[in-house]
Amino acid sequence: MLSPIVVRPQLHWPQFPDFPAGYYNPARLQDPLRARNASFDWTVFTPEGRSHAETYWDEAAAVLASLLPVRYATGRGDIHGVNVGTFTGAYQKAWMRRGYSMFGVEKEDVIDDLHAYGCDGNRDDAFELASIASARFDFAVLDRVYCRQPFYERFEVNAARGLRAYFGNIRRVLKPGGAFIGVLYDWYTKTVVSELAAMGGLTLWPMKSHCLAFQVDLAHGPTAIPEPASVSMDDPCWIDVHFGGDHHRLFLPTNEIAIDEAGTRAFAFAPPMRARSKREGGRSKKRLALFRQLLGGEQE
Ligand SMILES: C[S@@+](CC[C@H](N)C(=O)[O-])C[C@H]1O[C@@H](n2cnc3c(N)ncnc32)[C@H](O)[C@@H]1O
Repeated sequence: MLSPIVVRPQLHWPQFPDFPAGYYNPARLQDPLRARNASFDWTVFTPEGRSHAETYWDEAAAVLASLLPVRYATGRGDIHGVNVGTFTGAYQKAWMRRGYSMFGVEKEDVIDDLHAYGCDGNRDDAFELASIASARFDFAVLDRVYCRQPFYERFEVNAARGLRAYFGNIRRVLKPGGAFIGVLYDWYTKTVVSELAAMGGLTLWPMKSHCLAFQVDLAHGPTAIPEPASVSMDDPCWIDVHFGGDHHRLFLPTNEIAIDEAGTRAFAFAPPMRARSKREGGRSKKRLALFRQLLGGEQE
C-alpha cells in the first residue's frame, strides 16, 4: 500500500555568520575552489575562526539531524551515516560530534584534507558510489549537493529517456529500513520528488529561498505523489509563497503554483516564473538606483 506524503512546517536554516577578516587564512582563499566553498571548508580558517565556524556547523548539523526518523535522532556510534558531497568534512565532523559514525564521499580532490580533519571517506561520485559496498549505512545525507538549474534540467531529460535513477546508488548503500535525508535546491522538479517517493515514506519541509528538505524512510512503503488538482487548497501540501510582488499558493511536492484565470485553475512550474520576477526585480532596483542618482540621492 502507498504511504501518504507528509508535509511539515518550514525548516529554519541558520545563516553562516559574517566573520571578521582575522578569522580567515588569506593564503587558503587564493584557491578559487576554497574561496567558493569557504562556509564549509575547515582549512580556510585560523584556529580561532575554525572554532567559531564549528559552532555554526554544529547548529546546521542539528537542523539536518532533525530530518532523521526518531529511531536515529540521538547519535550513537553504532548508527552509521554517509555524508554525500562532504568536501573537507565540516558537516561530517559536526555529525561525528553528535555521536554518529560517519563516512564521507566527495567528487573534488580534497580527500587528504578530509582525512587530516579526522574524518573517514573516499573520493567518489554520488551517482556511482563505486567504492562503497551495498547495504552499509543506516542513513545517507545529501545536503545541497544537487544544486543548480542545469542539474535539474538534465535530470528531466534523462528521466524522460528512462535513463539511470539519480538516487539509485544512494539507495543501494543503505541498509533495508534505513533513511535518506537531504536538501534540494529551488529548481527541484516533480520527477526528483517522485523518485524519492518511490523509495519509501516521504516527508517534506519547505525552506527559505524555495529549497526543499526531505526524509525518505525506507521502513515504509513508497509514497503517492498527488496531483495538485486533486488536493484541497487547505492541505499542508499547499504553502504560501511570495515573488514578483504577489502572493501565490505553491504545491510543494511538484513545485507548481496555482493560477486562476477566468474561473479555470491551471498549474505552472514555479522556478522559471520566480527567476523571471527576480530579473525584473533586479532591473527595477537598477532603475531605482538610477532615479536616486538623477534626483541627487534625495528620493526613495
Ligand atoms: C554545497 S556543498 C555541501 C556542503 C555539505 N552540507 C557538507 O557536508 O559540507 C556540496 C558538495 O557536494 C560535492 N558534490 C557535488 N556533486 C557531487 C557528486 N556528484 N558526487 C560527489 N560530490 C559531489 C561538491 O563538490 C561540494 O563539496
